[in-house]
Amino acid sequence: MTKTYAVIGDPIDHSLSPALHNASFAFRGLDCIYIAYRIPKGELDDGIAALKKIGIAGFNVTIPHKVDMMRLLDEADQECKTVGATNTVVNIDGYLKGYNTDVEGFLDPIRKRKIDCTGADVLIVGAGGAARAIVAGFAKEKVHKITIANRTPQNAEHLASFAKQLGVDSDHVDIAKAGDTASRYKFIVNATSVGLKGIGLPISTKNITKDSIVYDIVYMPVDTPLILEAKEKNATIIYGWEMLIAQAMKSFEIWTGVQAPYEAMKLTLLGRF
Ligand code: ATR
Repeated sequence: MTKTYAVIGDPIDHSLSPALHNASFAFRGLDCIYIAYRIPKGELDDGIAALKKIGIAGFNVTIPHKVDMMRLLDEADQECKTVGATNTVVNIDGYLKGYNTDVEGFLDPIRKRKIDCTGADVLIVGAGGAARAIVAGFAKEKVHKITIANRTPQNAEHLASFAKQLGVDSDHVDIAKAGDTASRYKFIVNATSVGLKGIGLPISTKNITKDSIVYDIVYMPVDTPLILEAKEKNATIIYGWEMLIAQAMKSFEIWTGVQAPYEAMKLTLLGRF
């Protein structure tokens, strides 16, 4: 019987996950389909009941449900427990097991470049759900210190305490001044939505250098204003689409037990931009 997968969230109509997974199912000859299912905030319980009813094989979870979904899981893997959020769920006859592929998905492009994070000083701009998974990723890689810059300082402070709980030295700085000290950091990560649709810079780029590694999790457009300016400085660039594909590949492999087709995902994704 055909297995059905889904992504749940709101908004969901522009999600690239259905295209990525359907291309990959077809490429691997698997009898599976993947749909987008809009579940508004506050309607998660009913939405999950509906998914169970149709015998969903598994699903991805995105904004605004990544944290709330935790309470509806029967089991959660270590990464979920650390981050306090899930993005990938497997349904075994109504028993829901959660995973978080954002952490390893974030680290994957760094690992591919054989960049060593040990002892690094890191600047993360943003303090939302994505930034939390990134902090967990850097903590796993034993960085020296994580500095957070965020529009709302309280959220930055809160994320810095989370980093400390994971055993990493952490502080927060004023987002308006974060660019001034950018040359101090090995990594500069944009974990805000600024740059989406090619509009806006999360921080001033004047002190980004050729030794900086600039990682932008915004993937639409591929070349965000931050990426374009970092390229001008000859910095090392890591694209948001790389993380998007890496987390999707990990979800695909959890569900199917089959290696995800990187090239099929990349062609599908970049063909859409
Ligand atoms: P996600 O799960 O993608 O991280 P989120 O939890 O809503 O989404 O977090 C969005 C992040 O982008 C937050 O750090 C947010 O800053 P605030 O904590 O001040 O809300 C940041 N962000 C969103 N729009 C922004 C803007 N226009 N300027 C600066 N930061 C912005």
